Amino acid sequence: MKSVLVTGGAGFIGSDFVRMLVSDRPDLTVVNFDVLTYAGNLANVRECEQSERYHFVRGDIRDADAISQALEDHSVDTVVNFAAESHVDRSIQGPQAFAETNVVGTVVLLQAAREHGVERYLQVSTDEVYGSLGPQGAFSETSPIQPNSPYSASKAAADHFVRSFGETFGMNVVTTRCSNNYGPNQFPEKLIPLMIHRAQNDETLPVYGDGLQVRDWIYVRDHSRAILAALEKGRAGEVYNIGAENDCENLRVVRAILSALCKPESLIRHVEDRPGHDRRYAIDATKARTELGWEPTVEFEEGITQTIAWYRDNSDWLDDVTSGEYQKYYESWYAKR
Ligand code: NAD
Ligand code: TYD
Repeated sequence: MKSVLVTGGAGFIGSDFVRMLVSDRPDLTVVNFDVLTYAGNLANVRECEQSERYHFVRGDIRDADAISQALEDHSVDTVVNFAAESHVDRSIQGPQAFAETNVVGTVVLLQAAREHGVERYLQVSTDEVYGSLGPQGAFSETSPIQPNSPYSASKAAADHFVRSFGETFGMNVVTTRCSNNYGPNQFPEKLIPLMIHRAQNDETLPVYGDGLQVRDWIYVRDHSRAILAALEKGRAGEVYNIGAENDCENLRVVRAILSALCKPESLIRHVEDRPGHDRRYAIDATKARTELGWEPTVEFEEGITQTIAWYRDNSDWLDDVTSGEYQKYYESWYAKR
């Protein structure tokens, strides 16, 4: 691995991965290929811009010519696909963009990577493709694929295409399926940054339904480290679940944020539930731990403290991303709940 094309590298997780590679891996050229949707933000990768080994290309993963050009210009041998529409609630409001970017985009990218003889392709997927768990147990790599939201359906479809390119064309593909991430630079439409942002401003916190749904939280850098381990050590054609064994009810997460910010629990509002809301996710990451030698390193208490501090210290970043379009989105989704 010498030259890595990272798609979606201006988003939340992709930018963490790009920053990690640029700072820790002087042996690599890193090409950040991102179309810059509402979720893409070059401020997330500002610190990489001084490096001669870092290149940004504004492009769409549905655009075969743009991808081919980037693969050729930078002699890319490795592709990591983060680019996606990533928010479940937006997929309920408008599923089509999820089919276009997450499914068609992935197929166009796979095909371009194949034509250019890319040596390794990693698909960044999600535990949401497995659907919802009952009160017990955890998802393993052999759990049935039963997506419930348009978002998870589009990610599942993409995973199947990735597998098929391995089986049919002999491409060297690996897929990672990670649980819910949190950390700096996450767009404040997702639970943790949304609640931090609103609590900071003494605004009400919209908790869906009873708030007893469970998500398995992992600090974003632990996810980035797992992806790098899967790239370097994962077996071709395999899937690796990534999670930090930190399953927690949403209400507990929201209360922890309020407590850290010294804000009252009276800000919590139970609002109409999300349709098709998955009740519980939990990940069994034994395969990643044993085969990749990967371990998560950040405890939830430490990670959430760092995350809250980051949002407090980066109010310009938050102001920037919550102006304009964001207000319209918030109104359109929450006003009726
Ligand atoms: P994000 O929404 O923060 O970022 C997505 C990035 O992709 C943005 O920079 C956006 O501009 C870019 N993008 C969107 N459409 C594009 C296109 N057509 N061409 C090129 N770039 C495009 O998402 P995230 O939370 O960082 O998630 C990244 C990946 O990780 C996604 O594939 C997501 O499914 C997966 N994932 C996310 C989580 C999570 O908790 N957020 C957990 C597991 C897996
Ligand atoms: P989210 O961050 O959207 O991630 P995902 O749906 O992909 O797991 O939501 C995490 C959990 O928080 C999920 O159970 C839905 C819930 N939630 C709320 O209760 N209120 C909100 O305003 C949001 C955005 C999420």
